[in-house]
Amino acid sequence: MTFRSFDPNTLEPRQMAMLFQSLIVPRPVAWVSTLSAEDVPNLAAFSYFNAGSTLPPLVMFSIGVHRDGRTKDTLNNLREVPEFVLHIANSALIAQVEITGTEFAPEVNEFAEARLTPLPSELVRPARIAEAPAALECQVLELHPMPVGKSTLVIGQVLRLHVRADLPTDSLWVDTLALDPISRLARKDYGKLGSMADGQTLAEKFQREGVPDSD
Ligand SMILES: Cc1cc2nc3c(=O)[nH]c(=O)nc-3n(C[C@H](O)[C@H](O)[C@H](O)COP(=O)(O)O)c2cc1C
Repeated sequence: MTFRSFDPNTLEPRQMAMLFQSLIVPRPVAWVSTLSAEDVPNLAAFSYFNAGSTLPPLVMFSIGVHRDGRTKDTLNNLREVPEFVLHIANSALIAQVEITGTEFAPEVNEFAEARLTPLPSELVRPARIAEAPAALECQVLELHPMPVGKSTLVIGQVLRLHVRADLPTDSLWVDTLALDPISRLARKDYGKLGSMADGQTLAEKFQREGVPDSD
């Protein structure tokens, strides 16, 4: 087997983005609502995102800078109003996620641009997106500059979780296929859930029968 190997130090920024964003896939999408000090709502999408801990529930996502080096509105807002709502988007919402992930002037209300319905949150000032199947109301614990580069890691604590009531649950396991979460892939591609594999069943079969023949 041969491999093509790359040194990040010699790649153009665009080349690095191509490799990184096509290899680290699928990436969950945080659809984030924030509010400016002037009360202008903002929505943006972040796929450098994941859960940080369960107890207490923490989320983390990373905000880069615009190509010209300007700070993104989401970070400006979090510095002014350190609260946000992080939504899980489903496949019916891909167009709106994409629209809110493009650049608008700070005074533009992106709920209106993407024709989304704001719902008041219970514990934080930014509004929730009514159309999203799940929403996590969060307070900022840290806005942590990455040790190198210009990105900022946001660490937030989840204060309230909202799950659309028609989603089937088994105890509190929300049905993954019904949630229908999207992920970000390379370029402008999004992933929808395909088939799933039960790791426990496969591991037990492996222990019984050994390494499966590759097709
Ligand atoms: C699906 C998706 C994922 C994105 N992921 C990130 C990300 O992880 N980090 C980032 O800085 N920008 C990301 N972007 C781009 C931002 O959403 C975009 O720069 C947006 O305009 C920022 O908005 P703001 O200036 O209102 O904060 C993503 C966009 C989309 C559509």
